Parts: sequence; C-alpha cells; structure tokens
Amino acid sequence: MAKILVAGSLNMDLRLTMKKMPLAGETIMGDSIMYNPGGKGANQAAAAAKLGGDVAMLGSVGKDGFGDTLAESLAGCGADVSMLKRADEPTGMATIYVDENGRNSIVVIAGANGCCDTEYLKASRKALEDCEILMMQLETPFDGVWYFVKEAKALGKTVILNPAPAPDSVPDDVLACVDWFTPNETELAKLTKMNCESVEEIKAAAEYLLAKGVGHVLVTVGSRGAYLCDKENSCLIEGIKVKAVDTTAAGDTFSGAFAVALSEGKAPADAIAFANKAASISVTRPGAQGSIPTRDEMGM
Ligand code: RIB
Repeated sequence: MAKILVAGSLNMDLRLTMKKMPLAGETIMGDSIMYNPGGKGANQAAAAAKLGGDVAMLGSVGKDGFGDTLAESLAGCGADVSMLKRADEPTGMATIYVDENGRNSIVVIAGANGCCDTEYLKASRKALEDCEILMMQLETPFDGVWYFVKEAKALGKTVILNPAPAPDSVPDDVLACVDWFTPNETELAKLTKMNCESVEEIKAAAEYLLAKGVGHVLVTVGSRGAYLCDKENSCLIEGIKVKAVDTTAAGDTFSGAFAVALSEGKAPADAIAFANKAASISVTRPGAQGSIPTRDEMGM
C-alpha cells in the first residue's frame, strides 16, 4: 500500500446548530453547541487513516489544550502525528453554523496553521521523500503549499490538491504539478471565473484546468456524486442519496477516501465510488472527524 502524506490545517471546530442561519444584523437562538476536532488537512488525514490508509500528517498546532486534543484525536484515528509542529500561536479554530438541512457556513481563524509555512515544510522534506502520495488543501500559507506541491512533483510523487477554501487563483506552474485537483463546483467556479452549474459548464471549467497541465480534475457535486474530467474521461460518477444531517467534512472525507483507494491501486472510477460512499456516510452524522466512517463500516 502506498504511503500517504497529508500536509495542512488542524482546527478545533466550534459547531453550532440552528434552524436557519442568521442574517447580517440578526440575533437568533440556536439549538446545540459542540467542540469537535476538525481542519481540512486533519479531516483528510483522519479519513484516510480511518479507512485503512498508511498516513502521516504535517501541520501546526499551538502549545495549548486544543493542540493536545487535536494531535491525540488524529493519532486515535491511526495517523502518524509525530512530525506535527507545536507553535507559539493559538491552535486554529473554526466556527461552524449548521442549519436544519445539514448545510453549513464556516469561519476559520488560522492561528498556528500559519506556521505550517515553507520553512517548516522545507525542514520536513524527508517526510515527502518517504511518501508516494501527497495531499494538500489551502488553509495554510499558500507559499508553503506551492513549494511542497512543486517539490512533490519533482520527486515523482502523486499530488492531490483540494483547493479549499478556494483562492482567486492557483499559479499555473503549481497547477501543472497537480495530478488530482478536487474542487467542489463553487470552488471550481471561483478559480476559473466560469459558471459551474450545469454538467456542460463544469466540463468546460475542468477542461480549462486540464489545458493548464492538471492531470485529472475531480469535481465533487454534493449528493449528485463527482464529475471526473481528464484526457480519457468526462463522466459523472453518481453519489448515494441519503438524508444529510451535517455536510461538514464531506469533501474532506471524499478526498481522504479517494487517496486511500488510490494508495491501494484501485482504478479511478472505483476509487471515486469508494469516496462517494464514505462521504455519503459522513453526512448522516454530526461533526467533522467523528462523522467519518471506519473501513469496517464501509463494507468494501
Ligand atoms: O471542511 C470542514 C472543515 O473546514 C472543518 O472541520 C473546519 O475546521 C474547516 O477547516
């Protein structure tokens, strides 16, 4: 099984549930409050580890209680957390509003994630040399992400970049180093500045990225599944319809599961079906890392 290295964010999530999201200037009464381990990087590492992958995580947390909790929680999922940095900044935090339809709005305060920078990643180069698959997101300093993606490509690694939260653009020389680019349709629209509502529009935006040198564009489209666009394929791999209670970390679960399936040598269509199933289970449960299924629960 190929070794997976995840480099990215770890956040303590403060999850608030409510019937409807508040409007600007409005005060509402919510229903419940929960602290959960989260962060897009840690969620993807947790997903890959819970689903049976051989996973190590690079990232930065504070020297505070939340930092301890996040490291322990990720280790409990089965990931190697021995290379995490303990920074002199507070651990990253996310406030997550979840409405009665399971939809969320998230505000992230990066804190110690800001120390997952080029200097730290340069110092962690051995971890990159030791892995076969690198997976990153965009909640840590961009310079570091661009540096590591390019280094990984130069070393012949498989690079998965989940461009979330979506920036205005990703440099062309970085895109050319990405094997698997995994935006959702909103992120794809922001990055390409193209409409991405219909399948035809998603295909056109994905083709724009392929022309920039991305190997495969894999667009998650919620409960509809995922759209794969590359030199050989242009197809929707259908998702599994379930009643969602909380979509937080569904995309992270998808990415982590997809990486595991690739690490096991599964063909792309099978890897995407595996990832769709993992994500469909995660949305039926509250929270981020706690909602991710184990391999036993997957039955595949
Ligand atoms: O993708 C979900 C994650 O986004 C949450 O866990 C939160 O921490 C933010 O990073």
